[in-house]
Amino acid sequence: MNWKRSRGLVETEAPSNIALVKYWGKKGEQLPANPSLSMTLGSCSTKAAVRFALSERETSAEPRLFFHGEPNADFLPKIETFIKRVRPLYPFVDYLQELEIRTENSFPHSSGIASSASAFAALALAFEEIHRSLNGEELDLRRASNAARLGSGSACRSLQGGFNLWGRLSEESGDDQCAVNLENVHPVFQGMRDAVAIVSSQEKSVGSSAGHSLMRDHPYSQARREQALANVRAALACLEEGDVWGLGEIVESEAMALHALMMTSNPSYMLMKPATLKILEMVKQFRDIQKAPVFFTLDAGPNPHILYLEKDREKVENILLQTIIGHCEKGRVIMDYRGEGPVVRESWFE
Ligand code: PMV
Repeated sequence: MNWKRSRGLVETEAPSNIALVKYWGKKGEQLPANPSLSMTLGSCSTKAAVRFALSERETSAEPRLFFHGEPNADFLPKIETFIKRVRPLYPFVDYLQELEIRTENSFPHSSGIASSASAFAALALAFEEIHRSLNGEELDLRRASNAARLGSGSACRSLQGGFNLWGRLSEESGDDQCAVNLENVHPVFQGMRDAVAIVSSQEKSVGSSAGHSLMRDHPYSQARREQALANVRAALACLEEGDVWGLGEIVESEAMALHALMMTSNPSYMLMKPATLKILEMVKQFRDIQKAPVFFTLDAGPNPHILYLEKDREKVENILLQTIIGHCEKGRVIMDYRGEGPVVRESWFE
């Protein structure tokens, strides 16, 4: 193969994403039990720098990891699993004799924002760029999305900006292997914003992987698959038609469904905190009084995401967020917005 003995450095930056319809439960190797839909964020992102050297013979390098400049072994098992799984997509992996990965997050460490989506999207894009360059191919964002999925499911929705759909809807539409970018989105959603209220930055009592596993024998698993499919279809129509209120209703019911599934798992668990409920009530009250389309959602954690439009920014930020701040840990709210997707910042080979 012509690319052997090359070395290089690729730097990428990829955003996180917030699910509007939630992926909850897996099948096979990192395939989703149900379809999901997300908005790519603009400010919460991970920068990755991947330095590599290839040998002529098959070999396997122990990756060296650095997080914000410091050696970090915590992520090693997840990175090793990712590397093993992406072999069929990126054959150069079998010839790596050196691999150094440096990552940095734009959002504060322990902010309660999961970094696995942005981190694996940044890493998958770097691997895709290496593969593209070694083989003289075009950058294939679907392949990169597929690779990101093998690191962390939701990461596959961070390879493109705007809104992304992951999972099969029917024989003809959607894909379990990778996310697809939505083309027909009404301009009203162009400047959508997301303020993340940090209620707690503590590590969660039950992580996402354990939560996904508990869906396997969940009494509501079949109903959940049907609900998610119906919600994705309805949300797609709202995004196309510019129905902000319709989308908001689905988004809030999805957040409640996700947490209801946790509370009815065996064993059951609860990730919301008293301040989470307080904030959800405040969002509803503000919406009723102001008649403005402001909605909440939740990831698998206690920190509400508050979604609103650019045109309502002033009143949401000056009134609602000012009162919410009092219920946040150290008054922390992360201001984010609909983003444009990841970028390759540097690509150097010899
Ligand atoms: O990608 P994972 O395995 O961290 O799972 C993410 C699950 C949720 O954030 C709760 C929902 C989603 O679709 O992102």
